[in-house]
Amino acid sequence: MLADHLSADNNEPIEDNVNKPEEIKPATGKLGVLLPGFGAVATTFVAGVEGARQGLAKPIGSLTQMNTIRLGKRTDDKTPLIKDFVPLAGLEDLVFGTWDPIPDNGYESAVNAGVLRKEDHLDPIKDFLSAIKPMKAAFSPDYVKKLEGTNVKTGTKKEQAEELRADIRRFMEENGCDRAVMVWCASTEVFLRPGAAHETIETFEAAMEADDPAIAPSMLYAYAAIMEGVPYANGAPNLSADIPALEDLAKEKGVPIGGKDFKTGQTLMKTILAPGFKTRMLGLSGWFSTNILGNRDGEVLDDPESFKTKEESKLGALEHILQPEKYPDLYGEMYHKVRINYYPPRGDNKEGWDNIDIFGWMGYHMQIKVDFLCRDSILAAPIVLDLALFLDLAGRSGMGGIQEWLSFYFKAPQTAPGLYPEHDIFIQHWKLKNTLRWMMGEEMVTHLGVEYYD
Ligand SMILES: NC(=O)c1ccc[n+]([C@@H]2O[C@H](COP(=O)([O-])OP(=O)(O)OC[C@H]3O[C@@H](n4cnc5c(N)ncnc54)[C@H](O)[C@@H]3O)[C@@H](O)[C@H]2O)c1
Repeated sequence: MLADHLSADNNEPIEDNVNKPEEIKPATGKLGVLLPGFGAVATTFVAGVEGARQGLAKPIGSLTQMNTIRLGKRTDDKTPLIKDFVPLAGLEDLVFGTWDPIPDNGYESAVNAGVLRKEDHLDPIKDFLSAIKPMKAAFSPDYVKKLEGTNVKTGTKKEQAEELRADIRRFMEENGCDRAVMVWCASTEVFLRPGAAHETIETFEAAMEADDPAIAPSMLYAYAAIMEGVPYANGAPNLSADIPALEDLAKEKGVPIGGKDFKTGQTLMKTILAPGFKTRMLGLSGWFSTNILGNRDGEVLDDPESFKTKEESKLGALEHILQPEKYPDLYGEMYHKVRINYYPPRGDNKEGWDNIDIFGWMGYHMQIKVDFLCRDSILAAPIVLDLALFLDLAGRSGMGGIQEWLSFYFKAPQTAPGLYPEHDIFIQHWKLKNTLRWMMGEEMVTHLGVEYYD
């Protein structure tokens, strides 16, 4: 049934009853949050959840914990918290499992990452963090060149994937989990293109058996998760669940998947600023972005092959927001460059500079300089939380396959084949909230507002 209102970009009608969940199962019992990679982002996330549970800090930046959602008309004054509107797992129900080739426990890894202040936020929860020890990782230095790990699985890729499946089952049983979700928080793997091995589940499984280099470790985790009915999100830019074989498998098994690359730092700023220039029809002749960062992620990205993966992910956003093919006078000649420089003294406290050359009326030039003294993992941690809770919600709602409504959280949103992604953060936010309204059978908000003037 076609509704008489319009979608976010105001040009296509919303079909509001297509595939609507008939039933959303309640969020009872424990939710296992499984994290391949237990470095800066993952430990900051886990420590923040425990900190919130113990009243040490608030979960700032998380929509599931802090954002409200308007229901009905502006005059209805009905704006519950999202967590009171949709049935989400509570923070108290989360239990954490992880894999990492580096055997450090959660406390050691968090201290090493240097994101959170030891005395204020790590020492008070030392016992809790120390008890989380990574399981043996499916890891190969062929995909992450700058790392060497001792806590690793052996055997063929297929055997490693089966071991990951057994890990998931054991973790859930030992921790009394009702359900689980997986969010990839591990290092960025080298750049891979989708190929024949990724086409169907048959070619994918045969490639795992044959130890084909086209199968990266992250794909083994994604495969294991989907096979176990565990929703999977990819927080890094590498090729993972965004291949036909795993997209089809996720759909067939009714398991939600999403990706990729957490939208933090400079790309977050880009997707906030660029829609603003575009809505005012201001031109852009160039956008030069450079970063210095000194954490392990920065070191991994110092490898040209891992950087290439990141670069592809970072460059796409502007093109999609600005649509140069539709606005050649404004964006047809734009020069876009992104640099990441590993600079150890900065640790996780990255600095990102943007020089933006814009032009206005009669082509007159102006410049904007952004200097973002950013804490990457502080911006990424609430994304991990929201993805875990929303993916679990999608799973309980029977929404299998790609969850495009979670584009809000990603630099390179995964979409159906042939469909261009929405990068504009405001469209993404609107899409996310309208999806929640739609899931709950509430009317969608269009911001049309003519009814107030009848
Ligand atoms: N911090 C951010 O804002 C941000 C934003 C977007 C994306 N990311 C991505 O998130 C990921 C994590 O970032 P981080 O800052 O925590 O990095 P990090 O280097 O601190 O942690 C990554 C961890 O993954 C582990 N690892 C590598 N390969 C693995 C494998 N196959 N299995 C299990 N563990 C593995 C490493 O040993 C390391 O401990 C990176 O890929 C990064 O590019 C981070």
